[in-house]
Amino acid sequence: MVQLFDFLDDYTKQHFHDEEMYMQNIRYPEIEVQKTAHKKFIADLAKLKTEYQTSGGNISLIINANQMIIDWLTKHIFNMDKKIGAYAKIIK
Ligand SMILES: [Fe+2]
Repeated sequence: MVQLFDFLDDYTKQHFHDEEMYMQNIRYPEIEVQKTAHKKFIADLAKLKTEYQTSGGNISLIINANQMIIDWLTKHIFNMDKKIGAYAKIIK
């Protein structure tokens, strides 16, 4: 589980960084909203990791953490990241 949290942390940080660079390049108007959402996810993930470590691996915590991560990423991709693609098409 700790390895999974570490993997997700590295992966999302890299992905968010790449996405933020891209938004900067195309001068995406809602870049700050995206950056705030990314920071919040990284903070929530760190909080879950700490909760997991202090609880000693409680199964319901693992299920909740898993659900939270899937929900967040799905919503973020469908609501916010999709808009970057739409904007990129307009400015072509
Ligand atoms: Fe994003």
